[in-house]
This record gives sequence, structure tokens and C-alpha cells, in this order.
Amino acid sequence: MSPGPSLIRHYLQFKDLRAEEYAYVFERTREIKKRFKNYEKYQPLVDRTLAMIFEKASTRTRVSFEAGMYQMGGSVVHLTTGDSQFGRSEPVEDSARVISRMVDLVMIRTFEQKKIEDFAAHSRVPVINGLTNEFHPCQILADIFTFIEHRGEIHGKTVAWVGDGNNMANTWLQAAEILGFKVHVSTPGGYEVDPKVAGISDTGCYRVFKDPLEACRGAHLVTTDVWTSMGYEAESAARDKAFANWCVDDRMMAAARSDALFMHCLPAHRGDEVTASVIDGPQSAVWDEAENRMHVQKALMEYLLLGRIGG
Ligand code: CP
Ligand code: NVA
Repeated sequence: MSPGPSLIRHYLQFKDLRAEEYAYVFERTREIKKRFKNYEKYQPLVDRTLAMIFEKASTRTRVSFEAGMYQMGGSVVHLTTGDSQFGRSEPVEDSARVISRMVDLVMIRTFEQKKIEDFAAHSRVPVINGLTNEFHPCQILADIFTFIEHRGEIHGKTVAWVGDGNNMANTWLQAAEILGFKVHVSTPGGYEVDPKVAGISDTGCYRVFKDPLEACRGAHLVTTDVWTSMGYEAESAARDKAFANWCVDDRMMAAARSDALFMHCLPAHRGDEVTASVIDGPQSAVWDEAENRMHVQKALMEYLLLGRIGG
């Protein structure tokens, strides 16, 4: 049922797909979302199984992949560190060899990117990154689809990143390089993005600002994330101090374009990285952004498993 090894496409980083493939996946997302909204059954993945491996907590990623797979006619197996041999140091290569003989697709949320890369190298089936310390490609896929739905093309636009130089920031940089937009990045000292870690070759796709207000000036989209990502909890007190001025507030939104959107991958902490007035305000697209996780991932799973429909 699964393609041979040479045909396998993984989605481990945003740059694993090309710009024209994103155009196709977004077109499929629009179609799949329309069918969902019309209560039309669309089940191209009957008899396909997705294994989901979570080494960190999740609400959106779990629900969107699990609901999405069932809606497409398939089924899911849910594993966590605590209830599988993942938490008992079975070599990741062995887990990959075994799991990928029984399912058609694997989604993993884990710590180091290397772990998911190692898993993919020994997997017979496509592997999707559901978040690592370095990247969160499915989230940016949803964010960009949401931007396009609300405002049209993202090519040539400016995205302001306010906060940690983390997995989300790295993925925005990869997306900017591939899809041709600019990221204005403002982080506290010591939490900067590193183009090597982000895996970009064109440093012209982003610009660094000391002052978060300046990063937001003229932006089409303002976005942020938690001050302390999963896995970094021990640094939380130091981060609370360092990030105090990196809270997206009404002043920052006023510096952006008047039609600027606000996004946040969620979960959010009102009063820390964003004020309630912004995240619950008229420019916020966070609920559409969260819902779109499911629609884009359905299109992504369809693409990785079936290729281009009718083509
Ligand atoms: N945005 C996101 O990935 O949310 P979860 O951690 O709830 O999956
Ligand atoms: N940067 C956050 C994103 C959560 C969805 C984290 O890694 O915890």
C-alpha cells in the first residue's frame, strides 16, 4: 500500500516542499475545507493508518491530525513517551523500522530535530514534523494559508516576529526564503535567531530589529509565541525577565499596517507575549489559524500519500 523508499516524501522542515508544491497544497486545502464546511464526505485515505508519536504535550496538533485522518476515511494510532518504548530508550531507528511496517504515515512531536531526521531515515513511510525544538512546519503551513485566505498572496509582504528566536521563528524564516516575503525579527538579546539553525541560505529574507515596535512598523502580519517553549521550562524565570518588553500590544499593532493581522500558534499567555486586547481584538486571526491546522494537514497527508490528485 505504501510507496517504495525512493518515492517517499517526508515533511520534516518547511523547505521540504517547493513553492509550486505549496501552491498546489493550498489549492487542495481550499477544496478539502469547502467539502468539510458543506458536510460532504471526502475519504481518499480509507484503510490508511497514521501513527502519531507525542513526546511533548499537544491539543491542536493531536486533534487536527486525528480528526483530519478520520474524516478522510483513515485511522490513527496515538503513542506518547509515557506509554510506549519511546520513553524507555528503544533506539529511534528500531522504532522507525517497526512502526513504519505497520502504518502508512507517521507524525512525530519531539525534542531535537535530529531525532525526527533519524526516524525518517529508517522509515518506509512518510514522516511529518508535528513540532521539534527547531521547527514547526505544519503550524506555518496553517498560518500562511490563513493569511492568504484573509489578505491574498503572501509573496512580497512583511511579517513581524516579536519574541523568542524559537522553532516558530526558524520556520517563518524558511517560509520567507521559499515563498518570497520578508520577516522583521525582534528578540531580546541572547534569544536571537541563528540562520544556521533555521537552515536558510538567504539572510536577505529577514531583518533584525532591537525594538519590537520598529519590527512591527508597516507589517502586514504581526505574530508571536510563548516566551518559554516546551522543553525550556527550567529557563522560565530568566525568560520572564528578558522578554518583558516583547509583549504584542495595541501600540505595536498600531505601528503595523491598518489592515495587519495578528497570529499566534497557541497556547497563549495573555499579559505575557500578547495583551488580551490584541489576541481577542478585531485584527486577531488566531481561531481561523487554529482551525486551518486541520485543513492544511489533510491536504498535506493527501499529497504525501497520494501525490497530485488527477495529475
Ligand atoms: N500550535 C500547536 O501546535 O498547538 P498544540 O501544542 O496544542 O498542538
Ligand atoms: N514554541 C512553542 C510552540 C507550541 C505550539 C513550543 O515549542 O512549545
